Amino acid sequence: MPQGGYELTIVVPAFNERDNIGPLVEKLDLALQGVRWQAIYVDDNSPDGTSEAVKSLAQHDPRISCLRRVGRRGLAGAILEGAMASAAPYVAVIDADLQHDETLLRPMLDALRQGRADLVIASRYVGTGGADTGFNALRAAGSRFATRLARLVLKSDVTDPVSGFFMLRRPVIDQAAPLLSTQGFKLLFDLISAMAGKLTILELPYTFRERQAGVSKLDSRVVIDYLGLILSRASSNLVSPRLLLFGLVGASGVALHLAVLQVLPHSITFLPAQFIAALAAMTSNFFINNAVTYRDRRKRGLGLITGYVQFCALCSVGFMANLAVANQLEQWLGGRFVAGGVGAVFGAVWNYVTTALAVW
Ligand code: GDD
Ligand code: MN
Repeated sequence: MPQGGYELTIVVPAFNERDNIGPLVEKLDLALQGVRWQAIYVDDNSPDGTSEAVKSLAQHDPRISCLRRVGRRGLAGAILEGAMASAAPYVAVIDADLQHDETLLRPMLDALRQGRADLVIASRYVGTGGADTGFNALRAAGSRFATRLARLVLKSDVTDPVSGFFMLRRPVIDQAAPLLSTQGFKLLFDLISAMAGKLTILELPYTFRERQAGVSKLDSRVVIDYLGLILSRASSNLVSPRLLLFGLVGASGVALHLAVLQVLPHSITFLPAQFIAALAAMTSNFFINNAVTYRDRRKRGLGLITGYVQFCALCSVGFMANLAVANQLEQWLGGRFVAGGVGAVFGAVWNYVTTALAVW
């Protein structure tokens, strides 16, 4: 064990990155000669044997360790847990797939040591940085859009607030940790937003490399999560990302309900038609919520059926509560529009709270 403990903890989130483990450790070793560093891999129980690969290295290199999480998935949560295990004064985060330029770690560390920053971000969009080699055109455009959106919300001039490559003083992340969302991909964005204005941030340029082995885990759900996080932070945390998703799914249910009413033949009278439309909307809402809003605790098998029945029962009560509240308000205040609106919001909140507690 090096004397005096480690100066730098490098958190490496890894999902199905078996073939990239050895090469990255070699590169870190070369890039950080003379620095007391450790690497904590955080693996979400990858089926490809990522944690075995890390642990076999760890057997003869005490600087390497592996936190294997079971029953959990998600980049932001993985990074956070890795960082929480650090006792070093400085913590870095780098992708496992060799897309980040590890030679930047030393200048990042120097900046922190000299007190020039609390947080150093490796940026693809400052100075000589770039992302063209590592991204296809669509990803590049998407990344630029995500970046612009984040800057708008953060009211900050950070050029790459969604970077997955950064280093900070450990007290910063220790302090921010309880405020951060463990869902989604963008821990850095969330961190800057949580510490609004309290951090000195420095950006250093690097070029995002092409992935050699394995595949990217950034999919459409990650994008949905990200938009949820941004909107939630834009509302000063008034709405949680989950509530927001639930609301969007609810809105899609209302649209489906109206569409079903529209296409049902006129031979069906209003009440049964309304019932069919409501059932269609509840069914679609349940399955979308299960797959997107609550995918981290998704129901499967028998649980899917009981969950569906519970969901429909609770939403039916919610609908009746909506009618009762609206009716009462209409009698008190007279305004139909306000009464209807408050009733609908009441029903929606009921649905959200009760299904969150009972179903998921
Ligand atoms: N433990 C764990 N759990 N690790 C994960 C998970 C997860 O659920 N999802 C992804 N990772 C790991 C990957 O194994 C990789 O080491 C790193 O996180 C980044 O994932 P990629 O799937 O390679 O992301 P990317 O290259 O498409 O996206 C990069 O650019 C984004 C900006 O556009 C990353 O650097 C992102 O962090 C960055 O935000
Ligand atoms: Mn990658």
